[in-house]
Order: sequence, then structure tokens, then C-alpha cells
Amino acid sequence: MIAPIQTPELSVAERAALAGGEVLRRYFRDGFEIRNKDVANLVSDADIEAERAIVEVIRAAHPGHEVLGEESHRGDVSAEHLWIIDPLDGTNNFAHRIPHHAVSIAYYREGRAEAGIVYNPVRDEWHVAARGQGAYLNGNRVRVADHESLDQSLVGVGFYYNRGAMMEATLEAIGDLKRRQIHGIRRFGTASLDLCMVGMGMFGAYFELELSPWDFAAGRLFVEEAGGRVTTCRGAELPLASTDILATNGRLHDVVLDVLARHLT
Ligand code: IPD
Ligand code: CA
Ligand code: CA
Repeated sequence: MIAPIQTPELSVAERAALAGGEVLRRYFRDGFEIRNKDVANLVSDADIEAERAIVEVIRAAHPGHEVLGEESHRGDVSAEHLWIIDPLDGTNNFAHRIPHHAVSIAYYREGRAEAGIVYNPVRDEWHVAARGQGAYLNGNRVRVADHESLDQSLVGVGFYYNRGAMMEATLEAIGDLKRRQIHGIRRFGTASLDLCMVGMGMFGAYFELELSPWDFAAGRLFVEEAGGRVTTCRGAELPLASTDILATNGRLHDVVLDVLARHLT
């Protein structure tokens, strides 16, 4: 059992994550560089094959549900029943053989997150959350940090693929945070796991100036169920669309919003 909670959707998500994770583990283990010199293509194979395996499990259980998947499923986000999938979050880590990547699967009912799993298949780490039932790492309940101020915290950050104004704004915000005596900045390269690190109390806050729904759909529920808060970088409710994002332990939310406000254009 991956968590002492169970809902019908969580058990489908668990089976789907296992199927996707098995595909990723195989590519990761078998050494994609040896099979093909074109790393990007090979990673693409892993992405597509994992997404196919995940969607097969979901469709078998819920043929009428919509699926939004990064690679090849453009499900309607206004559907009553929606699954949101990133079959491989942390592509760059995967490509460089860093075992910090994940399968991210979320189930939304009428636009609201109900169940989420972020699964690191190499480390066999299960981050599981269900609305109203808490957040769990490998079956153990987790909670956000109780830090009251930035000078007690590590802050996680992500850079979208943009190397222009968005990257500059991110760097400026990092400088600003550093001047406020945070313990440090971390950029681990897998947004879904960054969010889980807020939920597990490792990061006091995490922000990124652009993410897609499949990057945050499961992780945001994990943070919320661990007692934290997730909004856009301007403090608005998170849309089910590409957006900037701030996740914190709750207590640090306003102070980080203030910092980010100085750097958003
Ligand atoms: C990316 C990762 C990364 C984040 C990027 C995402 P991908 O997803 O989550 O940490 O900084 O914004 O696009 O491309 O590896 O699935
Ligand atoms: Ca992603
Ligand atoms: Ca991806």
C-alpha cells in the first residue's frame, strides 16, 4: 500500500504510475545513450511510451474521462472528470542520468484536484495526496515546515526553458531572497518533486515563472494537503493552464509574494 488512504481514483493513479514508472526505469537502466546517440529522441521514446502505458490504465478504468497529457493527449480542462499527466517530469535530469525525475498523475473533478501521485521510479518514492485526507511519502504523513521567517528556510526555484526576460526576473528574485538571509536556493530540475519538497517541509517556498498544468497538477494538491498554500506569483488562484506559481508553507506566502511582486513584469 502506497498510503494509508485509498480512493477509487488513487488506486487507478497508483496502477498508472507503476506502469509509467516501469517504462522510465527500463530506459534509465538500459542506458539510452548506448541504444541511440540521439539523446533527445530517446528521452522522447521514454516520454511517449510512459504516457501510453499510463493512459492505457486510466482508459481501462474510466473510458469516459478526459486526459490531458504532456506528450499526446489534449483533454478538455473543463471536463467533469479530468486526468492530468506528466509521464516524465525532469527530462533534463533523466537525460543526464540524474535519478531525480518523476511520473506525475492527478485526477480533477469539476476543476478541483481530488487525487495526486508524484512517483520517483528510481528511488521508488511515492508522494500521494487525496483531498481532505492528507499528504504521504511512502505511507507516512508529511507536513509543511513551521518556519515563520525566510531566514529559517531553503527556497526551491525552477527556470522555465525561457532564457530571456523570464530567466532574468527569476535571477533577480533569487538575489533579493538571498539578501533576506534565506539558508539557500535549490534548483533540482523537477517541478513536481519541488512542490512535494514544500509539502515535506524541506523547502519553505518554491516558485517558478512558468509551468504547465501537468507539471503542477498533482504536486499542488500534495502541498495543500500537507498544510501549505499554492497560488500564482501574484497571489491569485491557480488556473488549470500555463501559469507562474508560488507554493509555500503558508506562513511565508505573503512575504515571498512581496519579493516576487518587485520582479514580475
Ligand atoms: C520541466 C521540469 C523543470 C521545470 C520546467 C518544466 P519537463 O518539466 O519540471 O523542473 O523547471 O519548467 O518544464 O520538461 O522536464 O517535463
Ligand atoms: Ca514537466
Ligand atoms: Ca515532461
